[in-house]
Order: sequence, then C-alpha cells, then structure tokens
Amino acid sequence: MPIDTKGRPIILIGLMGSGKTTIGKELSKMTGLKLIDMDSIIEEQIGKSIPEIFREKGEKHFRALETALLRYIEASINEGKGSVIISTGGGIVLRPENREILRRMGFTVWFNVEVPVLLERTSRSQNRPLLQSPDRFEILTRLNKERAPLYEESAHLKLDSTYISVQDTVPLIHEAALRFFA
Ligand code: S3P
Repeated sequence: MPIDTKGRPIILIGLMGSGKTTIGKELSKMTGLKLIDMDSIIEEQIGKSIPEIFREKGEKHFRALETALLRYIEASINEGKGSVIISTGGGIVLRPENREILRRMGFTVWFNVEVPVLLERTSRSQNRPLLQSPDRFEILTRLNKERAPLYEESAHLKLDSTYISVQDTVPLIHEAALRFFA
C-alpha cells in the first residue's frame, strides 16, 4: 500500500545483521518507496568496497564519509527527494550530529535483535571489517552494549525483532509510519 511520507524518509537503523537491508527491500515493495543503501552509495562514490576503505583510510575516514552523505541526504529532502527508505550502516549512530539528523529528518526505526541471531546472520559475511576476527560474539556483544543507548536516542520506534519474521515486521513499520506521518 503506497504511503505518503510528506516528502520525508523512513530510516532503518540497527547493528550489522539486524535486517535493515532485507526488511528495507520488502518495505520498499510494499510502500512503493525507493530504497537507498548508504554503504552502497559510499562504495559507488569512492569506487572501493567498505573493507578497502577501512583498510586504506581507516574507520575515522569512513565515519566522515558517512556523515557527509547523511548531511547530503538531509539537504536533498528540501529539493523534494526525501520520500525514500534509507538503510544505514550499523555505526551511523556513533556521531552525535548523525543522531540529531536521524531524529529530525524522518521516521527512524531501530531493529533491536539479540546477539546470537546477529552472530548467525553475519557468520558468512566477508564485507564487514569490524567482524573480521575470531571473537565475533564478543565484538557484537560489546557493540550492542555500547550502541543500544545511541540507537534508542536516535529512533522513533524500537522493534524487538529477534523472533519476528520479515513478513510480519514490514506491516508493523508500515502501520507505525502511517501514524507518524499522519
Ligand atoms: C558498520 C556496519 C556496516 C558498515 C561498516 C561499519 C558498523 O554496515 O557500515 O562495516 O560500524 O556497525 P551494516 O550494518 O549494513 O553491516
């Protein structure tokens, strides 16, 4: 069912493996809103993969690219290009400026997923530099602890989606977005 977001985006946030891209694709089909994936845009802009950017320039540089893109997206809302779904990278909430943008730019949804499920979903991933280590469980546990308050601060809706299927999650977001933008 198409949704009128009044020219503003639906933004998906959460840890790596929380389902932002998968759910974003289904939500895009249901709402007719275009899905934009911030990591993919950065890769296209720079002409390098995320692991290459981390390896060659470091995480700090990647974070600067991420904020620049977020600012650009917010500016483009004023040009009437804001009716989209945005899938973010898991670390988007690290910078206070980003958290402010996430709160004011549109409707922000946090997928709160338990660590064992995140671990399983990211187990075969080669393109996540922060997880290229044998102690992935410890890393995800730490990131979850550190970032949960930051996701909480940035989101309008927290979805405890560990045990909810993609098919069931999408209508929940749709309903909540309808109310938010009413
Ligand atoms: C990161 C998550 C990744 C990507 C980068 C850093 C993070 O995105 O932006 O590897 O800090 O959590 P996904 O959440 O889409 O995997």
